[in-house]
Amino acid sequence: MNIILMGLPGAGKGTQSEHISTDYPVIHISTGDIFRNAIKNETPLGVEAKKYTDNGNLVPDEITNGLVKERLNQQDVQDSGFMLDGYPRTLDQAKALDENLKALDSKIDHVIYIDVDPEVLKERLSGRIVCAKCGATYHKVFNPPKIDGVCDVCGSTEFVQREDDKPEKVGHRIQLQLDTTRPILEHYEQLGLLTRINGEQPIENVYREIRNILGE
Ligand code: AP5
Ligand code: MG
Repeated sequence: MNIILMGLPGAGKGTQSEHISTDYPVIHISTGDIFRNAIKNETPLGVEAKKYTDNGNLVPDEITNGLVKERLNQQDVQDSGFMLDGYPRTLDQAKALDENLKALDSKIDHVIYIDVDPEVLKERLSGRIVCAKCGATYHKVFNPPKIDGVCDVCGSTEFVQREDDKPEKVGHRIQLQLDTTRPILEHYEQLGLLTRINGEQPIENVYREIRNILGE
């Protein structure tokens, strides 16, 4: 099964991806995570990506398309299917993805758009904390770790705020993606692949809607 998870910054793509990849045998591919890892490791990709991600701008399509194409060609993805989180984010990326999948004789099964009002997103992003060691995502109020100050996944006690979650950057990220998302939604709607779900519900309820779409 091949899934695309869409939504504005903070809509819950990463959070829902963690649930989906527990229950379904798909490979989670988050372009944002790939860029953040490259930045952390100071690779050439990271040095280039940082110029854009730090300010909440999009990394150029030729870079992003190239790395997703490479990942989709790998054997684990061919065997298990993919769940794309944060890609495609421009119409050109959506078209490049269509071409790549055609070449692989593969196709998208579901495009799920997690719909959340921009004002709610600001509150979510400002309260997001991320485990410094394993990258697990929490929210100080809406989704805190089970034991205060301790990561559920790896037990680390160090949490950080993402550079692009600083209050002065959040508004720009949301506005930019409001503009670029609309044509992609139309593209998948025309192909009959799109389902919109209400992302302004507790995390478990959003996930229940996703399960209804993906099937047991
Ligand atoms: P990326 O990492 O993809 O960031 P994003 O799209 O801005 O999305 P986020 O990761 O911020 O939000 P999310 O939807 O995953 O929400 P989360 O589950 O964490 O990209 C980062 C950057 O990389 C981009 O800005 C760009 O520069 C670059 N990039 C990436 N992909 C690219 C591409 N394709 N092309 C070009 N550039 C690209 O949840 C957010 C918070 O809310 C958390 O604290 C969570 O606990 C909480 N929460 C989640 N669900 C709920 C709920 N239902 N109720 C209450 N709280 C909730
Ligand atoms: Mg994310």
